[in-house]
Amino acid sequence: MKSDVKDLELAKIGKKRIEWAEMQMPVLNLIKERFKKEKPFAGKRIGACLHVTCETANLMRSLKASGAEIILCASNPLSTQDDVAASLVKDYGISVYAIKGEDKKTYYKHLNAVLDFNPDITLDDGADLISLLHSKRQKQIKNVIGSMEETTTGVIRLRAMEKDKALKLPIIAVNDALTKHLFDNRYGTGQSTIDGIIRATGVLFAGQTVVVVGYGWCGRGFAMRSKGLGANVIVCEIDPIKAIEASMDGFIVMPMQKAASLGDIFCTLTGDINVINSNHFKKMKDNAIVCNSGHFNSEIDIDGLKKISKSVKSVNTFVEQYVLSNGKKINLLAEGRLINLSAAEGHPASVMDMSFANQALCVEYVIKNYKKLGSKVYSVPKEIDEKVAKLKLDSMGIKIDKLTLEQKKYLNSWKMGT
Ligand code: ADE
Repeated sequence: MKSDVKDLELAKIGKKRIEWAEMQMPVLNLIKERFKKEKPFAGKRIGACLHVTCETANLMRSLKASGAEIILCASNPLSTQDDVAASLVKDYGISVYAIKGEDKKTYYKHLNAVLDFNPDITLDDGADLISLLHSKRQKQIKNVIGSMEETTTGVIRLRAMEKDKALKLPIIAVNDALTKHLFDNRYGTGQSTIDGIIRATGVLFAGQTVVVVGYGWCGRGFAMRSKGLGANVIVCEIDPIKAIEASMDGFIVMPMQKAASLGDIFCTLTGDINVINSNHFKKMKDNAIVCNSGHFNSEIDIDGLKKISKSVKSVNTFVEQYVLSNGKKINLLAEGRLINLSAAEGHPASVMDMSFANQALCVEYVIKNYKKLGSKVYSVPKEIDEKVAKLKLDSMGIKIDKLTLEQKKYLNSWKMGT
């Protein structure tokens, strides 16, 4: 079995961490047990491009239990957990192409290795694999019956492809499931972004002014958790509705140009490019901390930062200090790559449990239904979303009420009013 990982000797610690995460993924475990018995993907080849973490390892084990052949590569050059990659290869017999800190050439070599495997189904986080399939590897598109997309940025890209009529296969937007973004994006990103910033800098959030750029589900989570730690939170938004929401949630809302001079810590979570640019850098306080928790490092204009800097040096693991021509220092974390997976370990397993249960059930849905699907971006079927929610509630030991017959009837009638 071919692979490209950093060091197979790391497998022992990786296995322990995968098993620890497994204990916090009860919904995925139930699915894995069913897959083991039913072998619903026997004979299928699944190619995944995801962050190579303990949680992803458990998704890969579940897919393997279904009888499929699996290959995995990293969806970001800096998010791989090398011990997990080693254990997947050594202990679970899964082909992995991922090394933390790989350069762009290696990153694409690894994506190409996944396509060389000729998958029938793909899983993506950020849409780089689908983009490669639709550009340099077009001949293979006809062999792929469908793909899942894990993240907001990826779904934005895929919807743009659909609009351009460039998309040539069905996509399930896993990110858009309620049991994904309400929990993974909000509580997962909220916690793991704070974790990444603290691991990289050791900074005390209390009393700091934190500028949250983007008030989508990830931004909402990060703003909420920063406030919980005692920070003064400013939100920058372009969407008027989200801006009202941020204001009514108790945050100060203002344009980035104004927030630039007020913030101590800046974090982008937008899915767009250059939301912090050199005009903003020039206005920042000396020693400001700048990072990104969106999918791509293009949210921060790093080239612009380089242009207005007279020097740069590494001052801590994951911290590069730029000295601007105006003499002020800017501390850029993790080269602007997603801080929660670069400096920390991504979202906790108990929240990835729901995201990856959706992934596993959507693979099953595509295998059963691909002949009926067109080249479009589809939502996760409601039944899957609700099933994941019910299983998660069960695993949490939470019981809820049921509608009475009278209440059901009332909700379906229009005659009863005042
Ligand atoms: N995205 C965010 N956190 C993650 C994790 N722990 N594993 C995989 N993908 C993630």
